[in-house]
Amino acid sequence: MDEVDSIIREMETASSEAESSIRDLSGMEALEQWRVQYLGRKGRLALFAAKISSVPPKERASFGKALNAMKERLTAIYEEILSTERTKPREFFTVNHTIPGKRPDFSGFHPLTVVTRQVASIFQSFGFGVHVGPEIESDFYNFVALNMPENHPARDMQDTFYLTPDQHLLLRTHTSPVQIRVMERLTPPFRIIALGKTFRSDAFDASHTPAFHQIEGLMVGEDICFSHLKGVLSLFLRKFFARDMKVRFLPSYFPFTEPSAEISISCEICGGRGCQTCGHEGWLEILGAGMVHPEVFRYAGYDPSTVTGFAFGMGVERLAMLKYGIEDIRSFFLNDIRFLSQVR
Ligand code: DAH
Repeated sequence: MDEVDSIIREMETASSEAESSIRDLSGMEALEQWRVQYLGRKGRLALFAAKISSVPPKERASFGKALNAMKERLTAIYEEILSTERTKPREFFTVNHTIPGKRPDFSGFHPLTVVTRQVASIFQSFGFGVHVGPEIESDFYNFVALNMPENHPARDMQDTFYLTPDQHLLLRTHTSPVQIRVMERLTPPFRIIALGKTFRSDAFDASHTPAFHQIEGLMVGEDICFSHLKGVLSLFLRKFFARDMKVRFLPSYFPFTEPSAEISISCEICGGRGCQTCGHEGWLEILGAGMVHPEVFRYAGYDPSTVTGFAFGMGVERLAMLKYGIEDIRSFFLNDIRFLSQVR
């Protein structure tokens, strides 16, 4: 008798213990552990139930009642806690109102946009208008009208992304075709720049990307000469790089200009003595330019005996790399926000 009473008291203590411990639990996992500990096949309740065989028959009824009471009490509390746990918002949805707010990232412009705008605003201050042209071009505008007729060696087949089997349509390989489109629409004198994407079937490595950006320039009038080209470009370069550097003009060749020049600035890093950045030359090549070829004027419908002009073209990525010391051209296209947000 005494023994059964003490087991029943033990059952009550265990129930109270179970009840208070379940209230401190948090999370499904802890709740499941609690269930196994008290209601599982080898849990506390099962251990008490196993004792029934040693309970004298006349005390079995009260023992069974106590057992049932324990089972009901624990099951009820378990189910109550389980249902509140299920409807509780998950950890990551809870809001901690004491954490300081995150500063919103207002983002910014892509470095290439920033540099393009810098260049455009310098030329606009010189009175140049800003134009654009199509990225899908015809063979005529991209090559023929720029004095590169069929089979001209400067049309490097491998460099061009052709869009049609007859090679009539292509992705423009430079912004120079915009020169022709602008000349068809405007009457000289005028001065313009043209901005945009250009494409060449190149590798994707530290110094090449199949898509890149160029800025083209064109100034046409009655007596535009090489000294205008020199003056405009030297001033532009000093303004863009915001330093007083030497500007070098070397003879070069482009089918659409005659004479043509390759223009470099003295290397800032080594002061012209020669270093890795300038390939030990002391000079950094920036752009190509020249006096518009008479043939190009003819294709655009101008009379080369009455107008002259100069043109130039430069790569935006290259300008940005030299201005900001960027070593790998791929950085512009990998969308790493830590890189992109540096040029503001
Ligand atoms: N179109 C040339 C290129 O993509 C760049 C260029 C050079 C443009 C000389 C010009 C120019 O207008 O006069 O390499």
